[in-house]
Amino acid sequence: MSYSSDNKQTTFRVQIFDTTLRDGEQSPGASMNVEEKLEITRQLLRLGVDIIEAGFPASSPGDFEAVSRIGELVGDRAIVCGLTRAVLSDIDSAAAALKTAAHPRIHTGIGVSPSHLKNKLNITEDVAIEKAVAAVKHAKGYVDDVQFYAEDAARADPEFLYRMLTAVIAAGATVVNIPDTTGYALPEAFGALIAGIRENVPGIEDVTISVHCHNDLGMATANTLAGVANGARQVECTINGLGERAGNTATEEVVMALKQRADTFGLETGIATTEIMRTSKMVSQISSIIVQPNKAIVGANAFAHSSGIHQAGILKDRSTYEIIDPKDVGAGDSSIVLSARSGHHALRHRLELLGYDLGDDELERVYKAFLELADHKKEVYDEDLEALVNEADRTFDAAFTLERLQVSCGTPGIPTATVELVSRDGATYIDSCHGNGPVDAIYRAINRILNVDNDLIEFSIQAVTRGIDALGEVTIRIKAPDGKVYTGRGAHPDVITASARAYTNALNRLMAARAIDIAQVATQAPAEVSAVAVEE
Ligand code: KIV
Ligand code: ZN
Repeated sequence: MSYSSDNKQTTFRVQIFDTTLRDGEQSPGASMNVEEKLEITRQLLRLGVDIIEAGFPASSPGDFEAVSRIGELVGDRAIVCGLTRAVLSDIDSAAAALKTAAHPRIHTGIGVSPSHLKNKLNITEDVAIEKAVAAVKHAKGYVDDVQFYAEDAARADPEFLYRMLTAVIAAGATVVNIPDTTGYALPEAFGALIAGIRENVPGIEDVTISVHCHNDLGMATANTLAGVANGARQVECTINGLGERAGNTATEEVVMALKQRADTFGLETGIATTEIMRTSKMVSQISSIIVQPNKAIVGANAFAHSSGIHQAGILKDRSTYEIIDPKDVGAGDSSIVLSARSGHHALRHRLELLGYDLGDDELERVYKAFLELADHKKEVYDEDLEALVNEADRTFDAAFTLERLQVSCGTPGIPTATVELVSRDGATYIDSCHGNGPVDAIYRAINRILNVDNDLIEFSIQAVTRGIDALGEVTIRIKAPDGKVYTGRGAHPDVITASARAYTNALNRLMAARAIDIAQVATQAPAEVSAVAVEE
């Protein structure tokens, strides 16, 4: 491949535009609170992404706050971007949220496919162009760096797309984003679309072409690379491929493809690839979206060799069956690190190496949980620590905590649970219930105390590390009556306790999102807890 002139499409550097915190967060059940988004932002900076799409400020006060606080945290280390529709009030809101950013970017756009124009927007092509131009000009009134997205570009009429892009570039857009919003494109056609844009849009040589692909047909990475091969110099992606439906292009896949196949692409990114695995684990923990074991680059089996022939080959020379050195992506150096004798300092140090920068209160909470775990388990692994950090409700305003839990079950026997919940203002609630099994009994007992309408739609348990004493991590998803999904996590060597914590965590998230306090949904008056009970 050769690059003839020095325009924006022929530089050798591909910019990584990370949208884990915006499109990634749109994965059902992956919503993150502001503290969690800040934690991920710190790790994205260590990873070395160029642009962080921090949210959609007009969509909710939470998103507005996240964009604003991420802008403050990032400083001049990356561009911080806020999404908008081609709606002037959205742009006002993004501009206000981005005031904290040293390098702000407004990302505005409109649907361009026949389906979007007719069914979603019910406007003509000319009206769409007018709205897009007005949006870009309005955004230019606030910031220099304005990115325009042509939503559903892969299904648009190319001639109309060229007209739209010509108009928004003339209006001042600095980056044009060509999304395959529905994951419909095939690599050859998507590459040709980018090539066509380069040939037919006046002014295109002065702006950056970005590609944003969804994975509905499993083509997101291939389409992104086809776009890059044809001149795109910004790729929009998410860690672990999180995102709407089947997700977005996975950052780790594009970055490693560009690196391992530099012979074909001849391009580089600014990514510190040794931070990939750490980032993947953190995002998986925080979003509660488990990475499939055979996922490229970051799956648990990505560097595991099980057949005898493969093992023999690897022992002779890794390159026989391995194209990536696991160390290059930060894989394979999980070690036994801490024990019950380790102090706060050692814990903080190890957490920092794992990418977590905790405040004093948060560290204290994790330290207590760590000591409790170290009592059960002699060897505490990095994975255990990650689970402990991410178990708690990090909104810091949990409506209630699970104080005590007693369960009896067996065969024959009637699974029965007694739970004690303590509200944020210190009121105690106790109730018992039987159920089909111990977990069912716990959930029913909690539901007897709290009348919070929800359906349990997913329950999964996995061992965080190997061995009989492994920490069990429970992830549950509950659905509110409006269809919104909330995720809860619980980690404990006793999976029954982990299950109770996971449900508590999910209910707390639902209640925090709707500003519900325990007193509003409590079905009974607070219990009088006897002194004896409190002391034990
Ligand atoms: O998929 C898409 O088209 C998007 C745009 C908002 C950029 O996410
Ligand atoms: Zn998208």
